[in-house]
Amino acid sequence: MAKVICIVNQKGGVGKTTTAVNLAASLAVAEKKTLLVDIDPQGNATSGVGVDKRELEWSIYDTLIGDDAAAQMIKNTALEYLDVLPSSADLSGAEIELVTAEHRDSRLKNALKSVKDAYDYVLIDCPPSLGILTLNALAAAESVLVPVQCEYYALEGLSQLIHTIGLVKSRINNSLKIEGILLTMFDTRTNLSHQVVSEVEKFFKEKELVFKTIIARNIRLSESPGYGKPIILYDITSRGAKDYLNLAKEIIVNGRKKN
Ligand SMILES: Nc1ncnc2c1ncn2[C@@H]1O[C@H](COP(=O)(O)OP(=O)(O)OP(=O)(O)O)[C@@H](O)[C@H]1O
Ligand SMILES: [Mg+2]
Repeated sequence: MAKVICIVNQKGGVGKTTTAVNLAASLAVAEKKTLLVDIDPQGNATSGVGVDKRELEWSIYDTLIGDDAAAQMIKNTALEYLDVLPSSADLSGAEIELVTAEHRDSRLKNALKSVKDAYDYVLIDCPPSLGILTLNALAAAESVLVPVQCEYYALEGLSQLIHTIGLVKSRINNSLKIEGILLTMFDTRTNLSHQVVSEVEKFFKEKELVFKTIIARNIRLSESPGYGKPIILYDITSRGAKDYLNLAKEIIVNGRKKN
């Protein structure tokens, strides 16, 4: 059965999409059948794996609003074990359209029911807000991965996010867990990066929730979306490729420990 992980942080630009795309690709090269679900109207995860948003006939919008089967939206990618459920710009209207829809928090969960069993992992890339799209992801997921950028104000908003996860857990998805906090864009040369790591570790002290893998700042990671390729296909020798492969390994091993 698929493990569904959503990648959430209401703060913008912290590395959600970079993590969704590259973790998904790394799991796929480990021959774990993976579905990348793009629920962000920006559609960066979609283009990040080489799918042209402008040429899509269908997108996740049609399953969320129109009840069309998710299976017909799924696209293959250059990696045999990686598929994507693409986003499109239509999705920006979905926040409003969903307000009056029936079962508005569980639309994604229901849409994924019929497809998820074909996968080992389903990763959901969320928009930078705690609106109804992110809520749908939290309702559909088994666990949450929170990327935290090693920058000023890294911890800002984390308490609110943890509170929201708690609310979702008590009201709509009581088995929801935190998969881990992932430090991103770490720069060994700056004191600030080291400071953020220790602050985040302090914040989550007892819970051992922080991933051992830390994602370094790596220019190749920021170049690869421009080529529509995950880092592993763009530059396998890069530090970014190594970091995301390590993260995939850590998640696979953690999953085994829990079974
Ligand atoms: N480890 C890294 N090293 C260098 N650049 C990175 C790294 N991670 C992400 N970036 C770059 O930082 C920017 C923001 O990353 P990304 O798009 O993954 O964040 P996001 O949280 O998905 O943003 P949004 O909130 O807008 O969806 C992008 O330009 C990305 O290429
Ligand atoms: Mg993003």
